[in-house]
Amino acid sequence: METILRYLVLCICLSYCQGKPPHIVFIVADDLGWNDVGLHNPDIKTPNIDKLARDGVILNQSYVQPLCSPSRHSIMTGYYPFKAGLQHLVILPWQPVCSPLQFKFLPQRLKDLGYATHMVGKWHVGFCSWNCTPTYRGFDSFFGYYNAQEDYYNHSWYNGLDLRNNTKVVRDLNGTYSLYAFEKRAKEILNNHDQSTPLFLYLPFQNVHDPIQVPKQYEDVYPNIKSDGRRKFSGMVSALDEAIGNITDRIKELGMYEDTLFAFTADNGGWIQYFGNNYPLRGGKFTIYEGGTRVIAFMTGVGLKKGTQYDGIMHAVDWSATLVDAAGGTPPTDGDGMSQWKAISGGAEPPRNELVYNYDQHLNPVQGHAAIRIGDWKLIDGYPGQYPDWYKPDTVYDLPDFNKPEKYFRDYIKMNKSRYQLYNLKDDPTEHNDLSKQYLDKVRELSARLNELTKSAVKPNYPDIPDPKSLPSRFGGAWSPGWC
Ligand SMILES: *[C@@H]1O[C@H](CO)[C@@H](O)[C@H](O)[C@H]1NC(C)=O
Ligand SMILES: *[C@@H]1O[C@H](CO)[C@@H](O)[C@H](O)[C@H]1NC(C)=O
Ligand SMILES: *[C@@H]1O[C@H](CO)[C@@H](O)[C@H](O)[C@H]1NC(C)=O
Ligand SMILES: *[C@@H]1O[C@H](CO)[C@@H](O)[C@H](O)[C@H]1NC(C)=O
Ligand SMILES: *[C@@H]1O[C@H](CO)[C@@H](O)[C@H](O)[C@H]1NC(C)=O
Ligand SMILES: *[C@@H]1O[C@H](CO)[C@@H](O)[C@H](O)[C@H]1NC(C)=O
Repeated sequence: METILRYLVLCICLSYCQGKPPHIVFIVADDLGWNDVGLHNPDIKTPNIDKLARDGVILNQSYVQPLCSPSRHSIMTGYYPFKAGLQHLVILPWQPVCSPLQFKFLPQRLKDLGYATHMVGKWHVGFCSWNCTPTYRGFDSFFGYYNAQEDYYNHSWYNGLDLRNNTKVVRDLNGTYSLYAFEKRAKEILNNHDQSTPLFLYLPFQNVHDPIQVPKQYEDVYPNIKSDGRRKFSGMVSALDEAIGNITDRIKELGMYEDTLFAFTADNGGWIQYFGNNYPLRGGKFTIYEGGTRVIAFMTGVGLKKGTQYDGIMHAVDWSATLVDAAGGTPPTDGDGMSQWKAISGGAEPPRNELVYNYDQHLNPVQGHAAIRIGDWKLIDGYPGQYPDWYKPDTVYDLPDFNKPEKYFRDYIKMNKSRYQLYNLKDDPTEHNDLSKQYLDKVRELSARLNELTKSAVKPNYPDIPDPKSLPSRFGGAWSPGWC
């Protein structure tokens, strides 16, 4: 008996001590706000997400870009969007643009380490050429869509169908809520996976991006929410939570849980216009205030302590290096990313002391903003974005048209507002007290550093005129690669 026990312990130790790479499940929630999970807001029912977070390390200072394509580019490559021409807005379906091909993607790095790599959900880093698509950027399989958004049931946007099984258009899921199809595909990948190979499962879900659609039973969880939109939105969050619970259960049923590392992040703050909420943080998606950029994030599982919190500053560009490190590889050092793994898992000193929120200010700006954080200080240079206030959930606000960022930026300049805003995020994480008039030295110091860090910015790649070669009618009614 004792010998058997000793043998067992030895086996377990061998598998860990020799650094067997963990399975990695990386969940990205779309447009999920700071105040949109139970962890931060008891009115929202997300028991599975909350439990997963509490079983691991909550990343309480985790930043992303204020918009989707730039964030996803950062996550995949470890480079800031202003170094890739992606700093303006998001990639539109008719723009011949993708995250530049010279950048190596996270799944390609994990493949080098022997991982099987699968993706289910939203891409949105470009698809005009096949070389831009998940299939050619490191994923063994892809089931999902290429663009920003679409109807959750007919999977179409602007008269183009956008749902793929690897390279093939999927036409037989009209009427199926996308989350169900994604949950099913994720479970299928898990069921079919040979567990002797490490698995990278990338799950960028459609929920909870606009359009606001959800099967009624999830909406019914919230009879007390008055606003129709916020009630449905909350249902979309709970549906997402259920899918994550189902997938986690399957991982447990298959005996993989102890060998799995979970990572979770939102891609940007909640979109106020579409009922997302970031209270008490200021602003939301589109703005470089904290509400647009500081998001729910955590890591749970292999190598991590339960019920802890990490207060180091993290940015979307760090995910690639961090996960490569967790997988036992050598984290890349060529880009802007830093591995946070040893600090998150082993208590090493947090590596990051500064970050650039975005830089879309010179070189023909559209949003006219830039911001930098160094330590506890944050400097905003220019127009912070069109949701400048503190928005409470279940409240109706008169909001500007988000389609006109350039107009608001120009109006802002005409109002002769001061160019800079300075906040001390330690004392004032909700950005109420602009200290730019009191601490002129800080303003100078941070703006000098911002100029230094953004010297290598490249020209935005944001063609204004839709490319007619992109038209779905040329491709049997589906948004398709092959025109750039
Ligand atoms: C996360 O940071 C906020 C302040 O920005 C703080 O109020 C909150 O307590 C922190 N979370 C935890 C779990 O400590
Ligand atoms: C998909 O649904 C949207 C409503 O969300 C509708 O406007 C659009 O016409 C539909 N497209 C197709 C191809 O069915
Ligand atoms: C995707 O295609 C594979 C075969 O290539 C098939 O086995 C699978 O059922 C398809 N999945 C969906 C959801 O269409
Ligand atoms: C989906 O089905 C609806 C009606 O059932 C139809 O009007 C629509 O054209 C279909 N959309 C696609 C993309 O097939
Ligand atoms: C979760 O699993 C249950 C039981 O199989 C199923 O009824 C439900 O639809 C699943 N939820 C989602 C969002 O896929
Ligand atoms: C802004 O400043 C310019 C030049 O000093 C002045 O002409 C203009 O009236 C000012 N605009 C506002 C809205 O105060």
